[in-house]
Amino acid sequence: MKRPSVLIAGAQFGDEGKGKIVDLLVQKGDLDVVVRFNGGANAGHTIVLDDGKYPLHLIPSGILHKETINIIAAGVVLDPLFLVKEIENLKTRNISCDNLFISDRAHMVMPWHRALDAAQGGRLGTTAKGIGPTYEDRAGRRGIRVGDMIDENGQIDLEHFSQRVREVCAEKNNLFQKVHNLEPLDPEAIIKEFVAAAEVIKGKVRDTGAMIADLIGQGKSFLYEGAQGSLLDVDWGTYPYVTSSSVGLAGCYVGTGNCVLPEVRMGVVKAYGTRVGEGHFPAELGAYERIKEQDKVAPGGSLPHLTPEEQQQALAGDDYWMGRWLRAVGAEYGTTTGRPRRCGWLDIVAVRQAVRMSGLNQIALTKLDVLDGIPKLKVCVAYEYQGKRTTDFPARIHHLHDYKPVFEELEGWDTLGKATSFDELPEQAKTYVKKLEEWIGVPIKIVSVGSHRASSLWR
Ligand code: IMP
Repeated sequence: MKRPSVLIAGAQFGDEGKGKIVDLLVQKGDLDVVVRFNGGANAGHTIVLDDGKYPLHLIPSGILHKETINIIAAGVVLDPLFLVKEIENLKTRNISCDNLFISDRAHMVMPWHRALDAAQGGRLGTTAKGIGPTYEDRAGRRGIRVGDMIDENGQIDLEHFSQRVREVCAEKNNLFQKVHNLEPLDPEAIIKEFVAAAEVIKGKVRDTGAMIADLIGQGKSFLYEGAQGSLLDVDWGTYPYVTSSSVGLAGCYVGTGNCVLPEVRMGVVKAYGTRVGEGHFPAELGAYERIKEQDKVAPGGSLPHLTPEEQQQALAGDDYWMGRWLRAVGAEYGTTTGRPRRCGWLDIVAVRQAVRMSGLNQIALTKLDVLDGIPKLKVCVAYEYQGKRTTDFPARIHHLHDYKPVFEELEGWDTLGKATSFDELPEQAKTYVKKLEEWIGVPIKIVSVGSHRASSLWR
């Protein structure tokens, strides 16, 4: 019998642990195709295997399985230089990318996009990977797509590509100098660098819309791997503190060019909340300004631990220290940028917005073990604004400061121990999961209790 196709969507602000869940589902061996349909190298999906960590940014998480077909679809903004590095890194670990295919309609992240993101993205706290400026040029009809560089026969179309780069670069240089006071870029150097990357990826370029339709026709089962979290969606997130693509099911339609409705639409929810970068975060623990200042770690540096005194402060109700506890235990530092993630209690209002956006019918709950040893756990079940209670996520983000989270309190547990089934979990942990299920209104099918593949309890 055909395995149902699955959509994986982040149901919070990103970093929910989607990579692990994707890997778990693909590992079962009966999903044939994994498709990335939105975002770009701003995503960071980490998969932990026996031989170490595999952080993936652009390449779909199915790449670790030889037989799985991996597709970077048209909705992804693709930085070919970054992609080549990722392919080469995987090669050094004996992972082949022979089964990786790239859409000819995907827009390319060009050096001017990265430069503009670095110059302008700070106010939004972007990942500076050029994502926003590339999507802007897509909508502004100035973009350069993979198909402008590589033709139908998998050959480099040097003449057309060079002309496009020279045209757009001239426009951008004008903007760079007159508006941003930036050094102009050299189109010839860009052409050279991109052509070298094109040599590596040219055999992988396809009309992925047609390819996906064909594979659907052959009865293949799909996993559509969403990037970012639903609350970062360009329309339904905390605009303007969002990414520039449609996240979840809407992005899946746009990105794949196919009318797909995966039978399973699985939202990935972390047992607490995190957010990276600027923007409102109603159930946040501690003031962001302080976290930015005091919680940085040097690249490759070791993660902080809380002293017993600091733990006492957290348990006595100091939000900053409780946030820092979750950050330390959960290793909440960005895979893409290394920034400390802001931590908070789980926000059901936000999760329910994600459920609505993608018609989520299953939940995978991740990182439950991070809550070990916290005697009282809070969950935000509603907001209070102007004396009224609401369970709808507000559009007017400039009012969000005045939305006060309404918390329910649940008993914590000492440790999840080495539970190998849901039934073996401490009663308080089982109650936590069941209460979340009730508040979210969607069954929780997977409970993840550790970073390794094996630490996943199916229900
Ligand atoms: P951009 O996507 O780089 O433009 O960044 C816009 C916002 O989305 C910033 O707050 C980023 O931190 C956030 N963001 C983008 N991608 C991710 C992700 O994969 N995980 C978490 N946050 C993300």
